[in-house]
Amino acid sequence: MPFVSIALDGPSGAGKSTLARRLAEELGYLYVDTGAIYRTVGLWVRRNGADPKSEPAVSALLSGLQVGLRVEADGVQHMYLNGEDVTGQIREPEISMYASAVSALPAVRAFLLEMQRELARTRNVVMDGRDIGTVVLPEATVKVFLTAAPEVRARRRWLELQARGNTDSYEQVLADVMRRDEQDMNRAIAPLRPAADAVRLDTSKLDLEESGKALLRIVKEKLI
Ligand code: DC
Repeated sequence: MPFVSIALDGPSGAGKSTLARRLAEELGYLYVDTGAIYRTVGLWVRRNGADPKSEPAVSALLSGLQVGLRVEADGVQHMYLNGEDVTGQIREPEISMYASAVSALPAVRAFLLEMQRELARTRNVVMDGRDIGTVVLPEATVKVFLTAAPEVRARRRWLELQARGNTDSYEQVLADVMRRDEQDMNRAIAPLRPAADAVRLDTSKLDLEESGKALLRIVKEKLI
């Protein structure tokens, strides 16, 4: 591949998106949040009142869906559902479960695969997700698998939600995190797992600054 691609995979709440965004900024690469793409599909399925676990029901909806991704002047990746900016709406906690459910369906993964690959074909990218190093970009220049203990990830997500005015309890958030881990790791297609050649980084005991430094160190070592 003529361009550099950095694949950052791991469960929700490991700090992937913040770390990926910062890393991309530091290196001057495009940051692609692939979870947002699955969330957009999840939102579409919810709007249509369909069962997100039903492959026939979800497949039937895909032909009426156009997913757009654009990094705007503010540097934020905006998501478009049939032309409508849904960047804020896809962050609702309910959409997390829809995204997780639809992401287990082969038809959805096939629908989104080429779109993700295309993004890495023409520029340097930092791409975060669950299967970037294993499926989307198996030839990625650098692969990092970010993890943290479920309790640590739930606490981070809970603080994030609180800051946005959400009143879910920590216990609820932890239960959601564990349910999503279970769903993402045990699905038959593209399950969440580190690529054989991924470097693992556990951020349980690291704050954001320390995690960022550790990540940059791993990346620089591989790029030299
Ligand atoms: O990273 P996130 O929480 O925004 O992702 C939402 C869901 O999408 C998550 O439960 C798993 C799924 N996902 C996926 O299956 N593959 C990806 N590359 C990214 C996300």
